[in-house]
Amino acid sequence: MCDTGNRKTDGAEIDGAACAAALLRWYDQAARVLPWRVSPDDRARGVRPDPYRVWLSEVMLQQTTVAAVRDYFIRFTARWPDVHALAAAPDTAVMAEWAGLGYYARARNLIACARAVSARGGDFPADRQTLQALPGIGPYTSAAIAAIAFDAPETVVDGNVERVVARLFAETMPLPRAKPRLARLAARLTPRQRPGDFAQAMMDLGATVCTPRAPRCNDCPVQGFCHAQVLDIAPSLPARTPKAPKPHRNGIAYIARRTDGALLLETRPPRGLLGGMPGWPCTEWSEAPAPAPPLDAKWCLLPGTVRHTFTHFHLSLQVAVAGVGPNARSDRGEFNPGFDPTALPTLMRKCWDHAADAIMDLGGPSPLR
Ligand code: ADE
Repeated sequence: MCDTGNRKTDGAEIDGAACAAALLRWYDQAARVLPWRVSPDDRARGVRPDPYRVWLSEVMLQQTTVAAVRDYFIRFTARWPDVHALAAAPDTAVMAEWAGLGYYARARNLIACARAVSARGGDFPADRQTLQALPGIGPYTSAAIAAIAFDAPETVVDGNVERVVARLFAETMPLPRAKPRLARLAARLTPRQRPGDFAQAMMDLGATVCTPRAPRCNDCPVQGFCHAQVLDIAPSLPARTPKAPKPHRNGIAYIARRTDGALLLETRPPRGLLGGMPGWPCTEWSEAPAPAPPLDAKWCLLPGTVRHTFTHFHLSLQVAVAGVGPNARSDRGEFNPGFDPTALPTLMRKCWDHAADAIMDLGGPSPLR
């Protein structure tokens, strides 16, 4: 039943099998080439996806774009081609390779999961339930791995898929309340044949055709099934309940440089923001933080601020720099002679970039850029 006036739909009027078939036909010729993906042609020839690569890509893609993940994925798999290799890697090497991808708890869970899978012989489980018992694998990732790696008839629902489904069924209930309903509607479309390709086809459609602001409805392989297109409301869907504005926090990051070029870095506590990652000692991040330099020195507060947005707040950091003597120490971290800015998380890297010229002016050997 579909009441197109006061949008209430249970989706019964979409022929799910025909819609899925049309989408898969499109995917067979339009699938994006992605480094973790087995193309539909290869799939038809019997090539099976490597569950390790599927798992790694899905963990990387949680809350991160395909464009941002691509190079990370290529570097990770070149360095650690299978789950045993990743399980054997030192934590610091994996965290350094992950630096810049954000959400660092994901990297810690990635290491724990690789070790758990390696300990059980190296095979990823094929069913959602067992997958979800592994570190860092929740409902979304377990469905994606089961469908894509093992062709289990699971429905994979990410933000792209929610958008496609909301439009196909002209579902106007706002997110996040509509999530369970959209998941149920998506499940109605999922075919028993090729559920893995179907999941990826939905993602591709959402990423390339059924895009958030200017959907290309004329190029859409399932336009004939789409209620939002008929009603001319596709760009307005999915509806969203407005979010509360994010609060703003402030802080100071302290970069101390010894005359031999070594820089003072702390390892952030394992739990919490940027957990386990290297960074500059900071004040607390709050509305009005008190200065908290990590050691006595002639600190120079640089003009300007570094801005960064976390999931729950915006942060403005001022950066203070100081040149210190060869015997300087701090109980807030270690002086690091082989400093590699690429191993820093993005916020700390921004502080480094902001301060690099002032650091050069402190003299001594040139730091790496
Ligand atoms: N986003 C999340 N998982 C994806 C995948 N396997 N392919 C493309 N985009 C994705």
